[in-house]
Amino acid sequence: MPATCVIGLQWGDEAKGKVVDLLTEQHDIVVRYQGGANAGHTVVRDGQTFKLSLVPSGIFRPEVQCVVAGGVVLNPASLLGEIDNLNARGVKVAGNLMISDRAHVIFPWHVEEDRILDQQCTSGEALGTTMRGIGPCYRDKVGRALAIRLGDLYRPDFRSRIEQVVKAKGHLFDRLGSPAGKLDAGEIYQQYHGYAERLRPHVADTTAYLLDAVESDKKVLFEGAQGALLDIDHGTFPFVTSSNSSGVGVSAGSGVPGRYITKVVGIVKAYTTRVGGGPFPTEQTNEIGQHIRDRGNEYGTVTKRPRRCGWFDAVAARYTARLSGVDVLAVMLLDVLSELGELQICTAYQWDGRRTTQFPSHVDDLRRVTPVYESLPGWQTPISHVRRLEDLPENARGYLRRLSQLLGRPVEVVSVGPDHQQTILANA
Ligand code: GDP
Ligand code: IMO
Ligand code: MG
Repeated sequence: MPATCVIGLQWGDEAKGKVVDLLTEQHDIVVRYQGGANAGHTVVRDGQTFKLSLVPSGIFRPEVQCVVAGGVVLNPASLLGEIDNLNARGVKVAGNLMISDRAHVIFPWHVEEDRILDQQCTSGEALGTTMRGIGPCYRDKVGRALAIRLGDLYRPDFRSRIEQVVKAKGHLFDRLGSPAGKLDAGEIYQQYHGYAERLRPHVADTTAYLLDAVESDKKVLFEGAQGALLDIDHGTFPFVTSSNSSGVGVSAGSGVPGRYITKVVGIVKAYTTRVGGGPFPTEQTNEIGQHIRDRGNEYGTVTKRPRRCGWFDAVAARYTARLSGVDVLAVMLLDVLSELGELQICTAYQWDGRRTTQFPSHVDDLRRVTPVYESLPGWQTPISHVRRLEDLPENARGYLRRLSQLLGRPVEVVSVGPDHQQTILANA
């Protein structure tokens, strides 16, 4: 039985790109199935750093088929830029990249709506989206009336469809007092027609392709984007992204039934980070948070914003590990904690006078909880050169054992640096 999923269990940036790149050699197909160019997945190979937004992190093995499935929202200009950049750096992107004709397309109006509405969907705190038009595109998908899918770009009525949507969006922008009311349908048509021609060789019915693949026992790897706490239905709503970024999103986004998924790898950082607004109980807005930011180079891959940093939150991660059906854990960036004398893990929340390990469903409740911490001794020695679990300092092993215990899953991968090589396979 063939399929494995890689799912971030926190608020994104757990180093999914690195894990997908590592696991790619055991797979035939690597699939992105939700999110879009809000994702920034880093792969470091042979001293070279690659940042991927839409292209699956399996692209570095030419024999592997990469697939962007229908649940992704696609910005064609971003994708083409990424393809050109990879090709220029000697990474082949040709028939090994397939893109679903069902993927919804991001247009300039989506980016403008993201800008206007970011402040307006919460009372007070801004969402702090990546401004890539992700939410507005997913909204149009669900609303249907103004949606355009990649396959529509190849239909004879594409030009009139653009004219119709531009007219409707123009009215919307006029009402919002935005200059984007002056959208030029002819110009947008020409631009997107050009993108469509360049993307044509990649466009396919990926649902049919993936169903054939799993039915013929091909090994498929699903690459989640964002993290489960950003899941539209199960995350810290409304401070979330607009897709199902937890494990529950794999089938909807790819078209592959859950029965084919045999292994779910839950990715966590050894601490916690968050970009953008929303509650974050274990956040450290002090020298510890700054130390983690400096050592972990915690600045957004996509937007370069400083990431908010804090201690590992086992209440949140246990919730998302259960939600995502996680079998094994990959604990990333363990090296970042190396210099700290004492480490804290949040093992419970104090919530309205009682202690609980339940993760609140409403952000206002999450804002009110106080983390209950357990202290563990640090190891205060560099570990980036270590390649075997038994060569880690005892306190680092103790820290991993405790995470594993609290989340109720074994740790299979430990990462001690950004490079492909800086990895410990716990079961090796
Ligand atoms: P993703 O979005 O989940 O793929 O994660 P990002 O690429 O946005 O962020 C992870 C960052 O951590 C990247 O800059 C990686 O190169 C880096 N990284 C990955 N693993 C490690 C590690 O074990 N140690 C350190 N220090 N950095 C790592
Ligand atoms: P990867 O795949 C971290 C966050 C944004 C914002 C919220 C909504 O690299 O882990 P959106 O633009 O999606 O409407 O923004 O979600 N966000 C991410 N944070 N990593 C990501 O992706 C993210 N993608 C979106 O910062 O708070
Ligand atoms: Mg990222």
